[in-house]
Amino acid sequence: MDDDGQVTVQSSPQRVSFDPAEMDTGAFYRVLNSVVVPRPIAWVVTQSAEGVHNLAPHSFYTVACVDPPIVQFTSVGRKDSLRNAEATGEFTVNLTPEALFERVNATGTDFPAGESEAEHTGVRLEPSDTVSVPRVAQSPVSLECALHSTLRLGDSTVVFGRVVHVSVWETAVRDGRARIDQLRPLARLGGNEWSTIGEVKEIRRIPYRKWAEDPSIGEQVRGD
Ligand SMILES: Cc1cc2nc3c(=O)[nH]c(=O)nc-3n(C[C@H](O)[C@H](O)[C@H](O)COP(=O)(O)O)c2cc1C
Repeated sequence: MDDDGQVTVQSSPQRVSFDPAEMDTGAFYRVLNSVVVPRPIAWVVTQSAEGVHNLAPHSFYTVACVDPPIVQFTSVGRKDSLRNAEATGEFTVNLTPEALFERVNATGTDFPAGESEAEHTGVRLEPSDTVSVPRVAQSPVSLECALHSTLRLGDSTVVFGRVVHVSVWETAVRDGRARIDQLRPLARLGGNEWSTIGEVKEIRRIPYRKWAEDPSIGEQVRGD
């Protein structure tokens, strides 16, 4: 913005346009994946009706609701994680730690439904506290979920899980809060790129009352 509140265009670079109506689905998907970044990764453990454990990473993942606490992940197509969550009504979402980079990636291999990714990749599962589906023993955080609902959207299905319990390694909790330096989560970027936690910045939200009282706050934010 300039001094008159007009949007100034000179300072911004030229833009490249990507139009889903003019691109094939895969190409546009790759564009979306490279701009909606970084994405946290849900390491989802499910169990088939026959009792086979399934472990798969899902980066279309976020908190969906605060009260009740609900998280969501998206199955692009009907994958085993979705089928199993529907079959048993339970799953766990585990944080993907930096130390397990290669193993997290390897659990994205399309092993047949009857084979356990955890066994193939040497990821240890252990019993959860409140659900019958296990959690990842080597992950510092596990969200124990009861299937809330699913939402079919085109080629994908969003899976909503009501979080009934959260367990965090004691070593990762300080003053009642999980600490990022102990969690070291991986995140997904575009292409085959992943990221780790970089510089951590801290800043407080500014209440409007303070903003209105003190003109220097706005000056600092705008860099006047
Ligand atoms: C880091 C990462 C993130 C992924 N995110 C997703 C995702 O959000 N949705 C999805 O359907 N597949 C995703 N995949 C691919 C699945 O993990 C892969 O298709 C896997 O075989 C699915 O396992 P399942 O059939 O056992 O559920 C991702 C793979 C990796 C490595």
